Amino acid sequence: MSTPMENGPGVSASGTAGPQAAGALNAAQSAETLADRVRTLQDEFRRRFPYDARVHGTDAAPVVVRSPGRVNLIGEHTDYNDGFVLPLAIDREILLTGRRRTDGRVRVYSLNFGQEASFHLNDLRGLRPGGDAAPAGRDAPWSDYVRGVVWALLDAGFEPGGFDMALAGNIPVGAGLSSSAALEVGTAVLLRELYRLELDSVQMAKLCQRAENDFVGVQCGIMDQFTVALGRQGHGLLLDTRTLEYRYVPIPTQNVRLVVADTGVGRQLASSAYNQRRAECETAVELLRRRLPDIRALRDVPPHRFEQHRHELADVIARRAAHVIYENARVQATADALANDNFTACGRLMHASHVSLRDNFEVSSPELDEMVAIAEGVPGVYGARMTGAGFGGCTVSLVRADAVPDLVKAIADQYPRRTGKTPAVYVVTPSDGAARLI
Ligand code: GLA
Repeated sequence: MSTPMENGPGVSASGTAGPQAAGALNAAQSAETLADRVRTLQDEFRRRFPYDARVHGTDAAPVVVRSPGRVNLIGEHTDYNDGFVLPLAIDREILLTGRRRTDGRVRVYSLNFGQEASFHLNDLRGLRPGGDAAPAGRDAPWSDYVRGVVWALLDAGFEPGGFDMALAGNIPVGAGLSSSAALEVGTAVLLRELYRLELDSVQMAKLCQRAENDFVGVQCGIMDQFTVALGRQGHGLLLDTRTLEYRYVPIPTQNVRLVVADTGVGRQLASSAYNQRRAECETAVELLRRRLPDIRALRDVPPHRFEQHRHELADVIARRAAHVIYENARVQATADALANDNFTACGRLMHASHVSLRDNFEVSSPELDEMVAIAEGVPGVYGARMTGAGFGGCTVSLVRADAVPDLVKAIADQYPRRTGKTPAVYVVTPSDGAARLI
């Protein structure tokens, strides 16, 4: 869940919404187009890794890939409970360019960090998960996501060769917008294109999750990688994380906007607390199975059966389970409400999700709670909630289009005063998943 891309605070009018910059916030990012950023990346790539026939061979045209971040509309901490999620890929991304090498070496340069990392495919062959497949890129931790994907591909029997690659992103760091999944899936798409690997998007998402679980060592669910790989412009993705069946849910961008607000607080301790929540959910399943022998995961527990037995569980375990069980129901209800353009209902469900994450699952933070309270105090905001793993990072609000400037202003005016922290606000639009551009 650590995130590799660096970006300053500011308000970005990504997409078409155009909020006004307010107070201490600025619109630094908004002027540069995707084409500008591709050109900057290509220039740096050529400067750093000039073509050399001896290592690049003749089949060495560089490929360019775009890989988006994601925001989760609803369905939090359900993906590792075989549950439902409703995220979307966003119009903030990592751009990657690369070309084949014939000698099995990999060199990777991040424009954001100004750092280069290198390794050889043979360094990764045969490493075992959890043991010796430990991250090797201590000097450039972001490069572990690249190593992890190469490792997972090799381990699954694919045969990518070496490559030179440069990347640049505008997904904020540590904000819970999945820049790590964007880097993983972007690397996988680049390698698929360079080496014509027979990999579909679902396989790619699973492989990238494996890279994160078994190489980087973060026990995340499938939501992030799946969304980055399969997102669709104008749509959310209703995903059943057990079966991996999914359906695109149109997000009517005519009248509403999604506003992501970064609390400016990184997700410290997120990893250990995340694993603890996973363990508590497993405990809940074990205990409930005594009464409900057919359940495999909290996803299998209908709310009325849970209510019959919740008093038999310790309070903390009961609250963790309650969050997951009712959150699954909220995901389905949100998809239905969106289909009916019922934004008031969506907003209510988002609010309920936040309250449950705060009180039952206990993964919110004072800053996230303040951000939600500020947003929900603005007329035209249907609802707001923390998004992602929690303990810091971002909120997401569903907002009437004409209320966006008021929301941006309210955050700029009130959030620093209430928390002493500097916020950043991004209006995001649902975008396509990772794909080759050039
Ligand atoms: C992180 C993980 C996801 C998911 C969310 C919480 O983003 O990577 O798999 O569990 O937290 O919903």
